[in-house]
Amino acid sequence: MTEFRILRYDPDKDKEPHFQTYTFDSPKGMTVLEGLIYIFENIDSTLAYRSMCRGAVCGSCGMHINGLYNLACRTQIDNLGGKVVLRPLAHLPIIKDLVVDLEPFWEQYKKVQPYLIPKQDPPEKEYLQSEKDRKKLDPWVDCILCAACYGSCPVEATDPEYLGPASLMKALRFIDDSRDGKTKDRLAFVATDFGVFRCHTIFNCQKVCPKTLDPTKAIAKLKMKALFG
Ligand code: FES
Repeated sequence: MTEFRILRYDPDKDKEPHFQTYTFDSPKGMTVLEGLIYIFENIDSTLAYRSMCRGAVCGSCGMHINGLYNLACRTQIDNLGGKVVLRPLAHLPIIKDLVVDLEPFWEQYKKVQPYLIPKQDPPEKEYLQSEKDRKKLDPWVDCILCAACYGSCPVEATDPEYLGPASLMKALRFIDDSRDGKTKDRLAFVATDFGVFRCHTIFNCQKVCPKTLDPTKAIAKLKMKALFG
């Protein structure tokens, strides 16, 4: 039997969050997300969680799973020793159970202008980039914005204005882009009070990133660029 202990909270009804336990037989290969779907469909349809792609692409199912932030759809129940403990992402208001309001995360994300601001007028067809320049972006482009890094970051717990690992790594993605024309402004922005120098280099974001990206390294690189150009 597999045991799921899930933090439940409905702000309209509950005074405070509490754990609820569900047990069921999980077939080999079942993921945590499939376990949640099973509970919802067969045991308790009041359970709230978020998911979409089921393939570690959309970033919807980020949550705290047995002590680490991860994606429910890429976590095998078999690897968790028969007991699964789930909490929602931290530092974000709970809408219901495992569903959080991601607005504070998006607010920070928008501040870094996460889009190309070209250095030249629009060309007739497309902005060209050499293969070598494109390769420079490889370490930063695969972020799926699941907010696992945001939930794991202790600086976010004390300073909600901190831009956070995902936003800062996205800033570097455009700072390193040979087609972008706002490098100086972007660097000046990430070096302000709520930017890279708030990072205490705790490595939690690096540890939990389900795409094995390295936001800690991105922030260290931004610090060097902000200081020495
Ligand atoms: S459901 Fe899309 S990343 Fe898990």
